[in-house]
Amino acid sequence: MKADTAQELERIPLLVPDIPAPQYLLPWLEKVHAARHYSNFGPLVCELESRFAQQFALPQPQITTVANATLGLELVLQALALAPGSRILVPAFTFVATATAVLRAGHIPVLADVDAHSWLLTPDIARQACVGRQLDAVLAVATFGMPHDMQAWQQFEEETGIPVVIDAAAAYGSQWLQGAQGTLVFSLHATKSLPAIEGGVVVSSRPGLAAKVRQLSNFGINLDAGSGLPLGSLSATGTNAKMSEYHAAVCLASLQIWEQRSLQRKALHADLVAEMDRATGGLLGWQKPGAAGSIQAPALLCAQFPDEAARNQAEQGLTQANITTRRWYQPLLSDMAVLQQRCETLAVPNAQQLSRTLLGLPFFMDITPAQRARVAETVARSARRSGLREAPLATAAL
Ligand SMILES: Cc1ncc(COP(=O)(O)O)c(C=O)c1O
Repeated sequence: MKADTAQELERIPLLVPDIPAPQYLLPWLEKVHAARHYSNFGPLVCELESRFAQQFALPQPQITTVANATLGLELVLQALALAPGSRILVPAFTFVATATAVLRAGHIPVLADVDAHSWLLTPDIARQACVGRQLDAVLAVATFGMPHDMQAWQQFEEETGIPVVIDAAAAYGSQWLQGAQGTLVFSLHATKSLPAIEGGVVVSSRPGLAAKVRQLSNFGINLDAGSGLPLGSLSATGTNAKMSEYHAAVCLASLQIWEQRSLQRKALHADLVAEMDRATGGLLGWQKPGAAGSIQAPALLCAQFPDEAARNQAEQGLTQANITTRRWYQPLLSDMAVLQQRCETLAVPNAQQLSRTLLGLPFFMDITPAQRARVAETVARSARRSGLREAPLATAAL
């Protein structure tokens, strides 16, 4: 066996969570311990919500934390009080949670295409989907953190009367309301740019929506003495989707280092793209900024290959070289048997093309120069094997 065969090469992971070190967590954990308050909207959850309220320049009642973004999406849909079985437009190219939230809220996902460049379900795509078809809401996704143009979505809402929610799971730091009306749901999962380990935050300018989500996240129990309902009685069938004080502690510690980390993430992403472009002679494509600009705190690296054969060849080459890859958001929702039975699918040619050509490559803060060079060289070698074009060898200067 040659010295450089896969078995002997150290494994390169796809993602490595970037969680604050214990010394950053400790002061927050001491506050939790001192307060003896561990869940049920404790002081740290309230402090975190107040920080988010400042960032989004909204009154605190328009922000609520949740246990994760999946439950946040489900509760936002429940709080919109759509008729059961409403038809919700979602992109076919997204993480499964976008669709499961719709189904679990009792509605029908209508799977739409995405833009070929930004990989977003845009207001124009939604407008076309409305022609000759009843739609009751849109759940657009900030794909891999790419922000949506909220002014454009507000205009869509005003034109059509159809409410829009943005699944901004990966878009913390990139997606803002930009002075428009809107509802955003962020994930604070361990793999995201602002980790709480598990967690989410709902931001909404829609009157009363975040407060309703907060109530639903606490089983639906009425805690408002002025609501006309007895205190402690059930106002709706909610669930338990509260964020614990321990998760808020991790998130507050993450916020302390967020500015620096987001800049590092952005710089790393740009460097890796440049390295891959040099190594492959510009063979790969990358997600392009949409109308609201680019991703500010990338959490992954997703390359587009010229065709399916080249993607598969690279995937195989990387696996053999002990480098972890992932077909992000694949298969498409429209290609999953469990969902096919319960969704309506529109024509999704761009999403299909993405599902044939995208491959997630390693992206994590501590990736070493040697690991970076190994990934770039392996992709370049696979590209040469697929005979796409003569790509120059990656050099040690990478
Ligand atoms: C688009 C999208 N929606 C929802 C989720 C679910 O987020 P959470 O893990 O916080 O439930 C994810 C997770 O990666 C996602 O990418």
